[in-house]
Amino acid sequence: MDKIVSLCRRRGFVFPSSEIYGGLGSTYDYGHYGVLLKNTIRSLWFRAMVQEREDIVAIDSAVILNPRVWEASGHVSVFADPLVDCRTCKLRFRADQLGHASCGRKPSKRPGETPDCDLTEARPFNLMFKTQVGALEDESSTAFLRPETAQGIFINFKNVAQLARRKPPFGIAQTGKSFRNEITPGNFLFRVREFEQMEMEYFVPPDEAPRWYEYWVEQRLDWHRGIGLRDANLRVREHDAAERSHYSSATSDIEYRYPIGWQELEGVANRGDYDLTQHSQFSGTKLEWIEQDGTRYVPYVIEPAVSIERIFVALMVDAYDEEVVAERDRTVLRLHPAVAPVKAAILPLVPRDGAMVEKARGLFEELRGKHVVEYDDGGQIGRRYRRQDEIGTPFAFTIDEQTLEDDTVTVRDRDSLAQERLPIGGVRAWLEEALAKPWRTPKA
Ligand code: GAP
Repeated sequence: MDKIVSLCRRRGFVFPSSEIYGGLGSTYDYGHYGVLLKNTIRSLWFRAMVQEREDIVAIDSAVILNPRVWEASGHVSVFADPLVDCRTCKLRFRADQLGHASCGRKPSKRPGETPDCDLTEARPFNLMFKTQVGALEDESSTAFLRPETAQGIFINFKNVAQLARRKPPFGIAQTGKSFRNEITPGNFLFRVREFEQMEMEYFVPPDEAPRWYEYWVEQRLDWHRGIGLRDANLRVREHDAAERSHYSSATSDIEYRYPIGWQELEGVANRGDYDLTQHSQFSGTKLEWIEQDGTRYVPYVIEPAVSIERIFVALMVDAYDEEVVAERDRTVLRLHPAVAPVKAAILPLVPRDGAMVEKARGLFEELRGKHVVEYDDGGQIGRRYRRQDEIGTPFAFTIDEQTLEDDTVTVRDRDSLAQERLPIGGVRAWLEEALAKPWRTPKA
């Protein structure tokens, strides 16, 4: 993980947030390539979940909702971690993770292991961030930053069901920031307090719920394979009853083998009719489906939920590679070309050669309207290639002496390092084709 963090920093993917003020624990800002990678992850998700389907529509709900939403959903009463305080070292720990925590005394042991440790009883600590709406600072103005995007979907069920001309099974998808006051954030972007969720609530007739649950576990697993994550690093783990959330009758985690071990990448849950029933009761608005023959039922909900951050880390871990080429170390991000933040680099071999620069700029202008491509004329060609390797750019087009004679360019493949020549006029079509091709990582 340290190597990934260092690469992200060095190449401008991710910076510690508020760095000039000493940072703010486990909060990050994204630089240019980080933004491009996040945009790509979001748009690939949106394409698979909305654009390529007729049964799912999009929504973008507010971050701050009526606080009654969180009473109805159960977040006010049960969205909490059990915490213990140490009266001696004044640190706070998750009661269920004492075995992984470090006590504040030296030499550091587990909380409760030194004779000085004086731990309180466990108390629930709600993970929602509180805020105030309006000028008054009293109980009546208390609101919360949303801890998940899902509830913004449930409370719009009636609007969408009436207007979207869909009938169950149909889904509503949303991407957006969620906020949780995590007690033990960490492992880079894996557990952060501010993250971007991509959730889809799929409303189905109750007797079809088990089938759709299985379907979505498979679909989502396939999607992760499709963005290039290796099979050996993916698995599905079904929760037992004790582990499931209060609303769920079945949950599976799609887990990824992070450097910290197998951990949840995405969750798929059968939420039953819990959410629509709760919001019907709390709001007084019936959230149900009425068939043409007048039959009424509360749809069950199957929910695949993931964050861009968990995918970001998985992609980086899966793609990171080091090798020695011609006695020199090379670090390369072997990202799926469809996922790579920059699709191609355009490089004039001799940056001071006006004719080469002109040709390269022309090609860059031609490609940039369609793809994220980068023009680079700074420094030796070897260094420019290495820079592109580290940000995962799959192809580099180099304009050289021969280009000036016969209008061909060299294309260099990031993974195999193979080079071939192409007519400059055919580069655009070649790139389109190369990006559409099925891709398999060369990593073992
Ligand atoms: N609506 C259901 C829900 O929010 P969850 O398991 O709490 O369920 C869903 O979260 C997904 O959101 C997780 O599978 C994970 O990908 C992501 N996620 C949750 N907490 C996170 C955090 N603190 N940092 C980054 N991603 C997080």
